[in-house]
Amino acid sequence: MPKAHLTLDPHFTVGPVNRRLFGSFVEHLGRCVYDGIYEPGHPSADADGFRADVVELVKELGVSAIRYPGGNFVSGYRWEDGVGERAERPRRLDLAWHSTETNEVGLDEFARWTDLVGSELMYAVNLGTRGVQEALDVLEYANIKEGTRLSDWRIANGHTEPYGIGMWCLGNEMDGPWQLGHSTAEEYGTLASKTAKAMRQVDPDLELVVCGSSSAQMPTFGAWERTVLEHTYEDVDFISCHAYYEEKDGDLGSFLASAVNMDGFIESVVATADHVKAVLGSDKTINISFDEWNVWYIDRYHGVDKITGIDDWPVAPRLLEDVYSVADAVVFGNLLISLIRHADRVTSASLAQLVNVIAPIMTEPNGPAWRQTTFFPFAETSRLAQGEALTLKLTSDTYETAQYGVVNLVDAVATHDAATGSTSVFLVNRSMDEAAEVTIDVRALGAVAVTGARTLSDTDLYAKNTLADQDRVGLADNTSAVAADGTITITLPPVSWSALELA
Ligand code: AHR
Repeated sequence: MPKAHLTLDPHFTVGPVNRRLFGSFVEHLGRCVYDGIYEPGHPSADADGFRADVVELVKELGVSAIRYPGGNFVSGYRWEDGVGERAERPRRLDLAWHSTETNEVGLDEFARWTDLVGSELMYAVNLGTRGVQEALDVLEYANIKEGTRLSDWRIANGHTEPYGIGMWCLGNEMDGPWQLGHSTAEEYGTLASKTAKAMRQVDPDLELVVCGSSSAQMPTFGAWERTVLEHTYEDVDFISCHAYYEEKDGDLGSFLASAVNMDGFIESVVATADHVKAVLGSDKTINISFDEWNVWYIDRYHGVDKITGIDDWPVAPRLLEDVYSVADAVVFGNLLISLIRHADRVTSASLAQLVNVIAPIMTEPNGPAWRQTTFFPFAETSRLAQGEALTLKLTSDTYETAQYGVVNLVDAVATHDAATGSTSVFLVNRSMDEAAEVTIDVRALGAVAVTGARTLSDTDLYAKNTLADQDRVGLADNTSAVAADGTITITLPPVSWSALELA
């Protein structure tokens, strides 16, 4: 049986776990907004057309900040199309997803929805087809109290109080050739700097995110971050990271080790940001907003779902509706472990996305809403990861992967909340055929007991929750977890994710 050992000591910490790590992302894409969060004809819909069943699941998921309205969509979006009288809002071509945007939902409706689910709204401005003025306009509309044309327009539209949006993304994936307004790092860095300076003239306290590379696989990765930060270092607070993982060519072993890649990605971007800091002699530290991460079977979109043709611009088509397996959820839980492990520098993250589109929550029009397999690690981690991320001493048996070489079979992270005295440990076993035995030295925590242990695993690694079988996969109590003589022992089934609560 593979073995791993960890030592927990609350005196050695990485940094506080920012609640914003448990953010998500709602894009006007496919059925995320329309037929997802918003379906006026649905039996559970409220007076604004928002599905109450979806609201309940989003609350259960424990989502902090929600990035909106895109994504690729934002690079062609005119925010003002989505406010004011619904009957007068224009229908527009959405070039990013080859769809029709009806504009039934816009900033005002989405702000109301984020209030309903109890999340913070994080807004992305269009730096693809637009620029400084339009970013200033939407900021004025959203955050100025009253007495100007755009703030008074918001009030006339029925929203007396400003939204106080604190965190703003300066465009989206501007390094990607697929992006409307795709730019060089020089061009984008120049525009982002001007936009940030202008937005700070409205409110110096805004938190601004500049676009990093759209993935670590981009040919310009690294150089893009360096050049963009050279232009914007003193103007912004965060640089974004985006990463999606999938099982390719049946290589489950490498897929299960995806978090190794995420660790390296984060550390490279931190190194690049700190390099620019050193060169500029700055006192400021730039953190990471990992504002798109997930498992995504992107080839399916390119191979099957992609809409083309001058006459085909559907409203809310079924796009990117990946159905997640147990193995996907284990990788997903491991990605959360990687984010928490870097809590000192990753201080915001957005699971892409929230409903229907590569999402933990699925819906059927006029039908049910249900939890995908990935829902469970997210909800548990969001609920339990409190306080400080701990610096772990982890030793583990290893295995060989085609993509990442020799990696640990067991991965883990722990958090400790000094206020409540509770500790949480999140663990994965990447072994495809063997259970792993993990021992955890908790002597530095004093006398602790196991107050909860839940595991996601299945003999069928590809089991999924579907419309026909919505509760096929879930968490089960892990009764193997015991505490004795300052050591916790837990057995992790093959390909599993677990959360352990100690008090
Ligand atoms: O989340 C789906 C898409 O992935 C986003 O629109 C884009 O930013 C990224 O490429």
